[in-house]
Amino acid sequence: MIATLGNRKGGCGKSTSAMYLAVGLSRVGRTLLVDADAQGSILSWSEEAEDFPATVISWPVRDLAKRVQDVRADYEHVVIDTGRAPGSDDPILRQALMVSDQCVIPVSPSLMDTRELRKVLALVEELEPLHHVEARILLTKVRAGTNSARDVREGLAGQGIPLFSCQIGLRESYAAAWGTTPTDLGEYRYVLEELPMGARV
Ligand SMILES: Nc1ncnc2c1ncn2[C@@H]1O[C@H](COP(=O)(O)OP(=O)(O)OP(=O)(O)O)[C@@H](O)[C@H]1O
Ligand SMILES: [Mg+2]
Repeated sequence: MIATLGNRKGGCGKSTSAMYLAVGLSRVGRTLLVDADAQGSILSWSEEAEDFPATVISWPVRDLAKRVQDVRADYEHVVIDTGRAPGSDDPILRQALMVSDQCVIPVSPSLMDTRELRKVLALVEELEPLHHVEARILLTKVRAGTNSARDVREGLAGQGIPLFSCQIGLRESYAAAWGTTPTDLGEYRYVLEELPMGARV
């Protein structure tokens, strides 16, 4: 499986999700985690983390698809973290989607930016004739005891936008995981279960 984390909105939890998913997937198969964000968050996180289980490589490059194709046979799973690109086009996200079968779009109800989110979905749709990618929203940083996530979920579902049934809470444990190899995958366990291979970790 190749999964891309994409949403041009900053701070919605792309890199955090990529790290947790890569750690979880490493438990079921050899996993490559690609940092396709020039900010290099994944690279510096994994550099700090002891015994990080996935292979990490930094490829914030316009020929990302070819590079991933060249090595994909060596891995069971590939996770690609992307960044926020200025301007209207996003060549690296496009390249990532061209080789992915899954696109996880983290959306934080408090940082909801429908326009940016729609750009990712539009890119997925544009690629559809050439390459199918299953794209779904993952609600992240969901504040307990508020209705914002439910409202956002209902709003998106009402527009026919697919969502993961599970969601990621706003928790200190996720924020504090930076620079470590998380042992408790928290709610990312349920995300893994909803992915096609249905990994139970
Ligand atoms: N579920 C969560 N609960 C609490 N804090 C979180 C959660 N997920 C992410 N964070 C924190 O929110 C901040 C942004 O997360 P992250 O870096 O994963 O977002 P991003 O989408 O990759 O951002 P960027 O667009 O800058 O690459 C980080 O400080 C991270 O630790
Ligand atoms: Mg990031």
